[in-house]
Order: sequence, then C-alpha cells, then structure tokens
Amino acid sequence: MNSAKLSLDIEGQRHELDLPVIIGSEGEKAVDIRGLRKNTGVVCLDPAFGNTASTLSAITYIDGENGILRYRGIPIEQLGEHSTFCETSYLLINGRLPNRGELEGFRNRLTMHSLIHEDMKSFFNGYPSTAHPMAILSAMVCSLSAFYPDALDATNTELFDITATRLMSKIRTMMAFAYKKSIGQPFVYPRNDLTYCANIVNMLFSVPCEPYHVDEEIVKVMNLLLILHADHEQNCSTSTVRMVGSGQANLFASIASGICALWGPRHGGANQAVIHMLERIHASGESVDKYVERVKDKNSGARLMGFGHRVYKNYDPRALLIKKAADRVLSKLGIDDPLLDIAKRIEEAALEDSYFKDRRLYPNVDFYSGIIYRALGFPTNMFTAMFALGRLPGWIAQWKEMNEDPKTRISRPRQIYTGHTVREYVPLDDRE
Ligand code: CMC
Repeated sequence: MNSAKLSLDIEGQRHELDLPVIIGSEGEKAVDIRGLRKNTGVVCLDPAFGNTASTLSAITYIDGENGILRYRGIPIEQLGEHSTFCETSYLLINGRLPNRGELEGFRNRLTMHSLIHEDMKSFFNGYPSTAHPMAILSAMVCSLSAFYPDALDATNTELFDITATRLMSKIRTMMAFAYKKSIGQPFVYPRNDLTYCANIVNMLFSVPCEPYHVDEEIVKVMNLLLILHADHEQNCSTSTVRMVGSGQANLFASIASGICALWGPRHGGANQAVIHMLERIHASGESVDKYVERVKDKNSGARLMGFGHRVYKNYDPRALLIKKAADRVLSKLGIDDPLLDIAKRIEEAALEDSYFKDRRLYPNVDFYSGIIYRALGFPTNMFTAMFALGRLPGWIAQWKEMNEDPKTRISRPRQIYTGHTVREYVPLDDRE
C-alpha cells in the first residue's frame, strides 16, 4: 500500500506518522487522515471542504483543470449527443448502460408510476400562487414518504428500485402541478403514450381545452439539458443528500434536503440569478464593460452570476455544450433574445479581463441554460426546479452508493470551538 510520511511538531510534541495514500482510478491522490486524531489528538480544519475528499465514489469523474466530465467513465459530450435522460439515469444509478430490454423495462416502470396520490393534489392548494416552485417541490418530495411508508426503512435495499422509480417518475408530475397552480391553470395528468421528457412538456404547457402537440425539438434539447445536469460528484446538494442519508434518513427525505441545498444562488439557483442579472443590464442599458467592472469591485456585493466554479479552472464542458445548444434552439425556434447577445458579450469581456483570467473564472453550467429555458417558455422561477429534476438520478445514485457501502458511518464533522470558556450562570435579577 502507498503511504505518506507526515512529521508534525505540535507545541513541542513530535509525531511521525505513516498515513495511507489512496490513489483513484484517474490517478488522483489523497492522504487518508482517518487515524490523525487518534494518533496525535489534532483534527484538520477545512471549512467549505476545499481540500477534503468526503468519500470514495465510482459515479462521476471531473478533471477541473482540463474541463473533463464523465459519468461512469463515459464523456459528457458522448452522452449529450447519443443518450437520453432515461438512459443516462439508468447508467448513473446502475453503473452501466442498459441493454435494449433493460432500457425498455426502466422506461416502462417510469411511465407506470407517474401519477401522484389524489390526496396530494390538495397540498398544492395550500400554497399562495406566488410560491417558489422549489419550496413546493422540496415539500412534495418529502411528503412522498408519508404515502410510501415502506420506504422509511432506508436499510431495506430490496425496496430501493421501486422507491427510486416512484421518485423519478412522480417528480415531473409534482413539478408540473406546482407550475400549473402558480398560473391558475388546471392540472394536466401524465400520459402513458409520451416519453419521459415529452410528458414533462405536455404537463407543463398543454391545457385541457385544446389539442397540444409536443415539439420534438423541445424534447431533444430538454433531454440534453437534463443529461448535462444529471450528476456532478460531491457538490453542495449531493453532499447534503449523502450527509442526510448517512443518518439513515429515507431516500425521499434525503433528496428533499438536496433540493433545498440546490436552491441557493451560489449553487443551482444561479440559473435564475443569471437571467435576472441579464434582464437588469438590458433594462437599465448599463454597458457590459461597466457591469464587468462592477462585479470586480468587492464592495459592490455583486458577482458575475453563472461564472466561476470550485472545481473547474477551465471552461465548464457543460457550458460549452449548452452555449452551442442555445444558438441552435433559438435559431430553430426563430427567437432573437437580446439576453443571449448580452451574455455572449459579457463572456467575451470577462475572458479577456485579468481579474477573471487570474482567478481562472469561466462560464459554468448556469450561464446559458436559462436562455434556453426562456426560449422554451419556462418562467424564470422554474429554472432551478428543472435543475433539480435533472440532478435527481445523480442524487439517487450517490445515495445508493453511500447506503450500500458497509463502511458508511454517520457524517459528523468536528469543529474548533472559539466561544467563551466556562463561566457562571448569572440569575436574571443580577444581570445588568
Ligand atoms: N464573479 C466575480 N468574482 C468571482 C466570481 C464571480 N462569479 N466567482 C468567484 N469570484 C472571485 C472571488 O471573489 C474570489 O476572489 P478573491 O480571490 O479576490 O477573494 C475568487 O474569485 C475565488 O472565489 P471563491 O468564492 O473563493 O470560489 P468558490 O470556489 O468558493 O466559489 C462559486 C465557487 C461557484 C460559488 C463562485 O464562483 C460563485 O459565486 N459564482 C457565481 C454563482 C454561480 O454561478 N454559481 C453556479 C456554480 S456552477 C453550478 C452549481 O454548482 O450549481
């Protein structure tokens, strides 16, 4: 076994340690510090985990220096070109591409579980029409555990397949119902003759009073967007799903917490924030150069939304594919969106600017995705819910990997306490 020699001098006390070195299948190296505290009494401090691998995982590989992303070894570019969201979901969850029969079976199961319990419909009525879809979606996903109590036992791995299928299938219906509720239209039920993505489009955009034709171009780009969002190893929401799941919370509850973690503008909420940023620039007439100057000023509190990434120090490969798709879709649909033009000019200005160059900040997945969703007719506050729908198979695969590993322990970081040392309780009458 490879090992690393670590020599520590802590307040005059010397420690010589032989720590195991774990080498990943792509050559990444990690010093295994699990024995550090036991042998030395000290822990590592790494807020935001910039230097910490929280797990071994065989699902997704990212090489942030070279802009590489692979699911189960397969490059994202190949999946984007040849696969469907259903097939990619199968790949992520089961570890390999399905054969024809397995894919058919998976698709059929997703089709057969799309209805939600009729009683759940009344939940939607409790929300104001202004409710953010992420608030509704996270609550609805968690509520599934009330309707499928067999899923409460996270340790029962025999129930995993049916629970994951229910979740992947019903999330579309719940998301579409949340949207219909927000615009005051009747719910549109799922249809068994439509594919996974066509069903989403139909439930969102059709109305019972007239025929609706699902545009294959929309279905194609939706497949692409969902594939590109399907997993991204140990990001904020996935780590949340794993952390909650490590306490043996059921799959529905774990994923609901992932949806909440995704919501913030530094994470999945960035796709909504990008559009708001572009709209503001468009409406105010502020020049792109001036805006770029503003986000460089730390006192402005503004960031260039859709730019930067903890892992990618190069162009995010997903952003490259989405940018190309945005051009294609907008031209096919005959849409001339001024926001696309502003986005491209911002990208050009930022990539030439030393602030962004020095910090290696490039467009990420969220920079252009909102422009496509806008062109397809999605309201801005639905963008992050679409991200959640795309990320679902990744969360499920990561939860499964964590749950099936006999070595999984509850996630429980330590801290360095910086508060008061011991002091006496002062009775209320004696306080100043
Ligand atoms: N605009 C301006 N400055 C930035 C930006 C940005 N978008 N991103 C990072 N920086 C600066 C940051 O101020 C810091 O500068 P300095 O070294 O002078 O203090 C430096 O770059 C490093 O930034 P950081 O905040 O330490 O980096 P991080 O790895 O903690 O954060 C990030 C990563 C994605 C949260 C951040 O780049 C960001 O806030 N981007 C905008 C929000 C966004 O687009 N989020 C979507 C991420 S991709 C999809 C997803 O994960 O959901």
